[in-house]
Amino acid sequence: MSEPKSPSSAERTRRDFLQRSAAAVAFAAPTIVPPSVFGATAPSNRINVACIGTGNQGFLDLKLFMAQPDCQLVAVCDVNRGSGGYKNAEDVRGREPAKQMVEQHYSRRSEGGTYKGCDAYSDFRDVLARDDVDAVIVVAPDHWHEAMTIAAANAGKDIYCEKPLGRTIAGQRRMIAAARENGRVVQTGSHERSNPYVRAACEFVRDGGIGKVERVVCNVGRHNKVGPGPGWQEAPVPAGFDYDMWLGPAPDAPYHPDRCLYNFRFIDDYAGGQTTNFGAHSIDMAQWGLGTDHTGPTKVEHVFADYLPEGSLFDAATYLNFRCKYENGAVLECVTGHPSVRCMFYGTDGVVSIDNQGQNALVIPRDATPDMLRKRVKYHSGSDHVRDFLDSVRSRSEPAAPIEVGHRSASVCHLGNIALRLREKLSWDPEAERFEGTKADAANELLDREQRDSWTT
Ligand SMILES: NC(=O)c1ccc[n+]([C@@H]2O[C@H](COP(=O)([O-])OP(=O)(O)OC[C@H]3O[C@@H](n4cnc5c(N)ncnc54)[C@H](O)[C@@H]3O)[C@@H](O)[C@H]2O)c1
Repeated sequence: MSEPKSPSSAERTRRDFLQRSAAAVAFAAPTIVPPSVFGATAPSNRINVACIGTGNQGFLDLKLFMAQPDCQLVAVCDVNRGSGGYKNAEDVRGREPAKQMVEQHYSRRSEGGTYKGCDAYSDFRDVLARDDVDAVIVVAPDHWHEAMTIAAANAGKDIYCEKPLGRTIAGQRRMIAAARENGRVVQTGSHERSNPYVRAACEFVRDGGIGKVERVVCNVGRHNKVGPGPGWQEAPVPAGFDYDMWLGPAPDAPYHPDRCLYNFRFIDDYAGGQTTNFGAHSIDMAQWGLGTDHTGPTKVEHVFADYLPEGSLFDAATYLNFRCKYENGAVLECVTGHPSVRCMFYGTDGVVSIDNQGQNALVIPRDATPDMLRKRVKYHSGSDHVRDFLDSVRSRSEPAAPIEVGHRSASVCHLGNIALRLREKLSWDPEAERFEGTKADAANELLDREQRDSWTT
């Protein structure tokens, strides 16, 4: 394997663009490109972007998009006016702090030193109703991804949807249908797809660099927050927080501060625990290296899952282990481990290990010499992934993590969670996307879930 280089941004953009153009998939419906996406970076030619969900990751995504000169953040949206209580409790997030950050960013660049021009909304439908918004970033909790992506696609917006793509396998299929019917570009936020180190490692594995892959181990992290135990009490909804709109398609439930901001990922009604949270990166790498981007395993098996006591607010597995088998015999094992080692491929002729952020894609062939071992490099692919999305919006070619690929990676996570819940070994038909065999009925029930009120799509 030749040393993966870290190409300059311009080289990377051009190379990736050429690669993808060659393999570009025609969009199902004719695409109407808004006039604002043509030309250079003159204000009238920028891609106007709105961010829906301005919490922990929303702030990071906002910064990554604002750093791109041909993109203009014109609106932010959050059901929270502004508060602490996020991943780092002291960080103040929400729509008003986000608007302030965006306007300060553009003020620093404007001649007069002031800028007002980023609107703040609490209802994302008001954002989608704006004709001047070309693309949206969906960074709300997972249970919202489906409804927001479908509504955005129907409104003619391109979409950068954070990982994991959706909350259910059936819902993700509906997202794909809406994106394709409307000819939209959708980038899934599994940003390691734009990491040249991860790309090189996965291509090496796929091209037979470590022989036949027999086993892949994907790590997901432990819970990094502690929720309230059995007997927890409902709390008053804080002023400035539209709780009903936060719940959206999820079932009605009493408010508790540990339910919503950041912590939703540990509650089954909103997300799939660390399986989908980290798995949307590590299992995505496994799918890439195995060459199974457009399919999935044929077996999925519960090995171990532990949960907090019955009645706790957090009901996702705290420690877990599930195993999938692919048609060619490769086994994918997902375990609660240290997520700094994301993904390890074990082949007949060697091993490839991909660390957190692809910082250390380590190749260990049987005949490894010391200089074959990768030097540790710092590399965060978030900004490349955003750049790649904007390039695709302009060129109308497939982005690095197309919606179908995001769907298949997240599906493996959902399949694992279903096997864990049922404590079963299940057969899966990746073509029909249905479980088969004697235990299929209960498992197929979990491929979709009811969506509250008018959020049914
Ligand atoms: N790419 C990555 O590495 C990465 C990292 C972290 C999180 N994420 C993803 O980003 C998403 C958000 O996670 P987070 O950690 O930022 O959560 P968060 O709770 O910190 O932020 C989510 C924000 O969305 C808002 N929100 C909820 N419902 C809304 C609605 N109807 N309209 C507008 N805003 C709404 C919340 O009020 C909150 O401010 C998740 O899907 C998560 O998996 C991706």
